[in-house]
Amino acid sequence: KRVAVLMGGWGAERGVSLVSGGAAADALEEQGFAVERVDVTRDLAADLRATFGGEGPEVVFNALHGPFGEDGTVQGMLEIMGLPYTHSGVLASAACMHKQRAKAIMHDAGLPVPGGKMVPVGSFDGSHPLPVPYVVKPVGDGSSFGVHIVKSEADSGPHADLLEDSLFHGLALVEPFIPGRELTVACIGDEPLAVTEIIPTAGFYDYAAKYQAGGSRHVVPAELPEEITATCLDMAAQAARALGCRGVSRTDFRWDDENGVNGLFILEVNTQPGLTPTSLAPEQAAYKGMSFGDLVRWMVEDASC
Ligand code: DAL
Ligand code: MG
Repeated sequence: KRVAVLMGGWGAERGVSLVSGGAAADALEEQGFAVERVDVTRDLAADLRATFGGEGPEVVFNALHGPFGEDGTVQGMLEIMGLPYTHSGVLASAACMHKQRAKAIMHDAGLPVPGGKMVPVGSFDGSHPLPVPYVVKPVGDGSSFGVHIVKSEADSGPHADLLEDSLFHGLALVEPFIPGRELTVACIGDEPLAVTEIIPTAGFYDYAAKYQAGGSRHVVPAELPEEITATCLDMAAQAARALGCRGVSRTDFRWDDENGVNGLFILEVNTQPGLTPTSLAPEQAAYKGMSFGDLVRWMVEDASC
């Protein structure tokens, strides 16, 4: 099959996407696919079909992350073009990219999510929108860009970052900080793979911890009580179903380990989980005996529009 791998984009996760896309393209070539690598810029996105060489692809492997790649927009363009593409469709992509909307859908499905609210960026005037400790994050970005944990009353932290970042659409999401442990579960279709615990080397699982070798330690399978593992796996599958995800997705959790199963909360579902050498979904696939090559081949075969 002729496969075009879309990567890059012009959001904050451009660099991550280039690594995800490069890894996927290499592995697809090894699997015998005829691969075209497409670095998507704002100009190219305006006329995607013209950027494809030759007869054009039969399948699009979407290795974009974040706004314009993960949020339903590129998915909508590919639907209109009638080109099968990997990962979730328009609605699930758009819903998951808006962390607060996604939480509302999961809450309606009976899944535990942290409370929180949307706050206009301009309203950060030194007062605290929630009791400390709380987390401030872009409502629609990934890789921990712009995430700030406000730990004490004295920390007036995020204003400057928030105001500088146009991707906030003028709104930030604030959520109570959940103490405890960071867990994640990737799903292939409806099937949850494993629970990974992420232990950052320092601080929290921020951008550096995500993509620098040694920035965090991944324990797969996570060393957890049986009930917690089983519940996480089940909740990830339920979340992917409730949000209508397709292909590979990854559900991120916090577990307040002093509260047993009631301490589990879903933070978000990622519809375009990273495919970099330090990324979690490929690692869980490998743990289940599925090589990176097998994974990307499965994704191409699962593609639809
Ligand atoms: N947003 C990054 C790519 C992830 O979820 O893995
Ligand atoms: Mg994310």
